Amino acid sequence: MGVLSVLVRALRPATGVAAITAGALALSGCGGSSLSQSGGGDSGDEVKIGLLVPLSGVYAPLGEDMRNGFQLYLDQHGGELGKRKIKIVTADEGAGPQSGVPAAQKLVTQDQVTAVAGVVNSATALGLRDFFDESKRPLLVANAGADDITGARKSAYVWRTSFANGKVGAALGPAVADEVDGGVYLMASDYAAGREMVAGFRKTFEEAGGKVAGEEFTPFGKTQDYQPYLSKIRGSGAKAVYVFYAGAEAVSFVKQYKQFGLAGETPLYGTGFLTEGGVLEAQGDAAEGVKTSLHYSSEIDTPRNKKFVEAYSKAFNESPTVYAVQAYDAAAVLDKALAKAGGTGGEELAKVLGSIGPIDSPRGQWSFGADHDAEQKYYLREVRSGDGGMVNAIVRELS
Ligand code: BEZ
Repeated sequence: MGVLSVLVRALRPATGVAAITAGALALSGCGGSSLSQSGGGDSGDEVKIGLLVPLSGVYAPLGEDMRNGFQLYLDQHGGELGKRKIKIVTADEGAGPQSGVPAAQKLVTQDQVTAVAGVVNSATALGLRDFFDESKRPLLVANAGADDITGARKSAYVWRTSFANGKVGAALGPAVADEVDGGVYLMASDYAAGREMVAGFRKTFEEAGGKVAGEEFTPFGKTQDYQPYLSKIRGSGAKAVYVFYAGAEAVSFVKQYKQFGLAGETPLYGTGFLTEGGVLEAQGDAAEGVKTSLHYSSEIDTPRNKKFVEAYSKAFNESPTVYAVQAYDAAAVLDKALAKAGGTGGEELAKVLGSIGPIDSPRGQWSFGADHDAEQKYYLREVRSGDGGMVNAIVRELS
């Protein structure tokens, strides 16, 4: 079954840098424990950085990609950021805030890390915003797109190397309004990320003249059978469908969309998480023709990305994903900030985060905007058959 295929990927034997990485991460303690305990996250020259990613739950494969991306940057820089030796303390975000919030609190209060990077789930990020603001430790969000942790509710201590949910959905709205003649059905996981990715899409889609044929939110992390929803889509007479699903849910949804017979008759659109990385491998042919918006694809044809794809593939025996790039870039941000800051305390680091300048990323150059989000390009991607299986081919830039 699709969900299993995604999880099998997490159990593959590590190769190259990945093998070294696995050892280093095991030493740092996946439960958030650390070998050395010091007051300010800085023991001598060593700086402790917390990595908070899901190691369990529907988003566990995303967490694995983020660990790989962060570790690749470290390995390429001799284990140092800002010329200081780094000790990673890894903690399990789990399925959401119930596990993610206490894990982050332990990283800060017990392990005394200088900063935390990671966080996949929007609900976890929403639960952490005030804690990091009050603790005065930087949180570099390397995936979770919750609109409300940046922008209007931005904190001097919360910065995002990934995206805001509404922006990824909004990037796709005008393109779908342009391509589809008739109503579009909207569907997503029922939590902050799904609601915001639908709202962002709906706004720009309707502004561009698009019509909504129906809207449905499915219980997050619990829905395995999408047939009742697919029947509703067919009954609505929609001419296309737009969705947000990621991880194991994306595998189940896309496979069932094809099994139900909708794939050939009703074009499927979504935010890029729908067909990213191991998810696409598990979906196989069922994903062919799916069109998505995202700020990365391993297919980006630039020397910078090709070099990254080569290094990542050599280290981990698979193509990189957006999750790996966002975490790789979080390490790059910390590298610049630690080099620039007068010390390694959370307040000193937070002060320089707004002035580190552009990040030379595999996705293309980006910088933090005034809202503390990554200012970046979005691409329209289409799943096509490539040399080694399905790929997210770049169709064109969206912004
Ligand atoms: C989120 O919860 O923000 C999220 C999770 C997976 C992929 C993209 C966004």
